[in-house]
Amino acid sequence: MSSSEIPELDAETVTVAVLAQMAYTPDTRLKEVMTAAVKHLHAFAREVNLTPAEWLKAVEFFTKVGQTCTPDRQEFILLSDTVGLSALVHFMHDKTALEDATHSSLLGPFFRENAPRFNAGDQIARDTSDGEVALWGRVTNTDGQPLSGAEIGIWQTASNGLYDIQEDPNPDNMDCRGIFTTDANGNYLIRTVKPVGYSIPMDGPVGALVRRQNRHGMRPAHIHMLINASGYRELVTALYIKGDPHLSDDTVFGTSGELVANVTDHDPECPLPNLPSSRFDFTLSRESEADRMLGRVGADPAAIAQA
Ligand code: BEZ
Ligand code: FE
Repeated sequence: MSSSEIPELDAETVTVAVLAQMAYTPDTRLKEVMTAAVKHLHAFAREVNLTPAEWLKAVEFFTKVGQTCTPDRQEFILLSDTVGLSALVHFMHDKTALEDATHSSLLGPFFRENAPRFNAGDQIARDTSDGEVALWGRVTNTDGQPLSGAEIGIWQTASNGLYDIQEDPNPDNMDCRGIFTTDANGNYLIRTVKPVGYSIPMDGPVGALVRRQNRHGMRPAHIHMLINASGYRELVTALYIKGDPHLSDDTVFGTSGELVANVTDHDPECPLPNLPSSRFDFTLSRESEADRMLGRVGADPAAIAQA
């Protein structure tokens, strides 16, 4: 090959050359995603004038993020969460629902498959010494019709602000998580403990970055919910406890006014009226053909490690 046949690339034309090499990608969606990724990545590098040392720092950072992932910890999801990418994907996902229903919120890195099943009114926390809380309400469709047999997966921290998976990775030792089923009227009743706000894991590369940005790393107190009913779009969401000081500056951008739950001391309408309680009704959108293919923003870290 004569030297005249070697393209003389520069900081602008290298982008065109990469896109040309990828132009025959048979998978059209892969082609679309990678074309946009290359365009934006190159534009980003040009915008910040990325130096060799900074490029290497980024390689080291992503290497550490990967090395921090285990079957019990997902540092990449944490990174996605702290830069608002997970929240952005949720916002876009909610817009594609057939109907406007309860909105999504972060699944987070502590979701676990195969949580135990409970009966209505059962307690999910092993240690209730700091007091119990009842969660109750209905799951309906957007016409207000009750959805019976809907499954509500719930997971939250214990009263010490830690998820079971952070204290003991043994999947036989689950705590503060479980699956409930709605009754014939779409009602659910869960007994738990009041969650507390907590810091995202700060002992890894993502925490180090968050600290360098002078961010506090806190999430407001919340309870995760994963709701499934046959024929309806799966809902990944969370309830945020009214009064928490970090409702307005969640490190991972999961909060919204619509998802704030008010815990009241004595609600005579609650089926467990002697406990502090919070009523929250969830609405599900009818499922579209495409919904089943769209997946979730998140997964059990153990399943990702095996993928
Ligand atoms: C969580 O809510 O479990 C969570 C979400 C994002 C980052 C860390 C924790
Ligand atoms: Fe959480």
